Amino acid sequence: MHLKKNLTHYLVEQQRKHGVVTADVRLLLETVARACKAISHAVSKGALGGVLGSLDSENVQGEVQKKLDVMSNDILLEANEWGGNLAAMASEEMDTLHRIPEHQPKGKNLLLFDPLDGSSNIDVNVSIGTIFSVLQLPEESQSRDVQEADFLQPGVKQVAAGYAVYGPQTMLILTVGAGVVGFTLDRETGSWVLTNPNIRIPEDTAEFAINMSNQRYWEPAISRYIDECLAGKEGPLEKNYNMRWIASMVADVHRILSRGGIFMYPRDQRESVRHGKLRLMYEANPMSFLVEQAGGAAVDGANRILDIQPTGLHQRVGVVLGSKNEVERVQKYHLEAQKD
Ligand code: AHG
Ligand code: MN
Ligand code: MN
Repeated sequence: MHLKKNLTHYLVEQQRKHGVVTADVRLLLETVARACKAISHAVSKGALGGVLGSLDSENVQGEVQKKLDVMSNDILLEANEWGGNLAAMASEEMDTLHRIPEHQPKGKNLLLFDPLDGSSNIDVNVSIGTIFSVLQLPEESQSRDVQEADFLQPGVKQVAAGYAVYGPQTMLILTVGAGVVGFTLDRETGSWVLTNPNIRIPEDTAEFAINMSNQRYWEPAISRYIDECLAGKEGPLEKNYNMRWIASMVADVHRILSRGGIFMYPRDQRESVRHGKLRLMYEANPMSFLVEQAGGAAVDGANRILDIQPTGLHQRVGVVLGSKNEVERVQKYHLEAQKD
């Protein structure tokens, strides 16, 4: 029988061929993938597994936690505590970093995650996901206890990033800095099968994703761009645009990696969204790394997201990402607006 290439096979190849993956990171990625499998299983049970609905608690950002937010966080923590390849973890659902317990061996990597992205879609059976980012513990920090400051590295320093999307199929999309690949979970064998060996985002698109209900709060550069999209063939962009908004970043980005598009969650005039809604460290950075590795672009408005020097674990950021030419157009509008 001919076995298809799976995640382990791909990672071993990357380790040997390009040396882009260390044995340490390989084990870490396999463990994260294993945790995503467990989350996928819980998600698919829905009401039968008693996993739907909210808890009484709020996370550090004041958002009501869903049962699956906390369950997914616990699954990722538990899976990654004993591998010996991590120094600490950080998550949307935890106020501060989570150090590897005293009795476990420590490693030199840092793992960040959004355990369950698209929480508002859990109870309506729409695609949701898990986003993760891997950094290395800075050399100078290796002789002392890990601190939150050790995580505050710009996105260009990520050694791996990816997401799992729990949709009609469960897929794992990954970059180790050598392009973007996709695996589909074969539920019968429990294997992540390499189904998308070279994911590329087309440079042009006629499909945009933004929450239009926030239009009245947008900055002028975003309004200008969306007005032009809406003007269609008769407008300055000379083509008709289509719109999609799933409200799970994972699912919106997955569509863009599959057929192109531009995704925007910009900063706006609301106090709570003054710096953006999405979180830099475990949403924007990993997605920007993937998008750039697939030939796309990702900016906060005027600046490349991956170059931003973070100041806080839960810091928010404006996000515009996807097909290169379209993202660069929006970036240009921001730069022009700054000059005015
Ligand atoms: P999370 O569920 O992890 O808090 O993230 C939700 C995010 C993102 O996935 C999505 O793009 C956005 O929030 C949707 O926001 P709106 O409900 O404001 O459209
Ligand atoms: Mn999220
Ligand atoms: Mn989340």
